[in-house]
Amino acid sequence: MTDKFTEKFKPLFTREEVEDAVIRLAGEISRDFRGEEVLFVGVLKGSFIFLADLVRKVKDVSVEVDFVRVRSYGSSTSPETKPVITKDLEVNPAGKFVIIVEDIIDTGETLSYLIKHIRAMNPKDLRVCTLIDKRERRHSRVQVDYAGFTVEKGFVVGYGLDVGEKLRELEEIKVLPENNE
Ligand code: IMP
Ligand code: MG
Repeated sequence: MTDKFTEKFKPLFTREEVEDAVIRLAGEISRDFRGEEVLFVGVLKGSFIFLADLVRKVKDVSVEVDFVRVRSYGSSTSPETKPVITKDLEVNPAGKFVIIVEDIIDTGETLSYLIKHIRAMNPKDLRVCTLIDKRERRHSRVQVDYAGFTVEKGFVVGYGLDVGEKLRELEEIKVLPENNE
């Protein structure tokens, strides 16, 4: 899709920078969970590429993968949104080391809801790994254990992240700058 709108996205992180970040995160996770079994829970759809690359770089960890899908429903007149799980875990996380894998954490609403949901299923430990930690609009307090990049603001696309279901396939990450920066 190349049109006037997508042309407005500016390069933010190159393919090489993304690869380096994934290798670093996989290294941190490998050190923290050496010799253990870890259930990686990808949050659909945005995490699918990140998760696929991440688990292939993790070493000396017995990897399990599952997915959840969370949608946020809200009205156009209210900033309040309520996340709803539309596809739940299929692997029982009870007694397991679990890492939630997100594409981006924005307000933190989706994640805090998901943390509560999975915690109620009694994992041994629950951590959060995100490709991008976007800070400006954060209002739910969530602990991010592993973050590839930190950005303040802007709408980000590529490497799984979409704008209206497009541009997920980009190997680099681009941003729509806010306020005509
Ligand atoms: P939160 O509940 O506000 O933290 O929203 C998280 C979800 O909103 C992410 O998993 C994305 O699907 C979507 N999202 C938030 N910011 C962006 C962005 O900059 N680009 C693409 N999707 C985004
Ligand atoms: Mg999205």
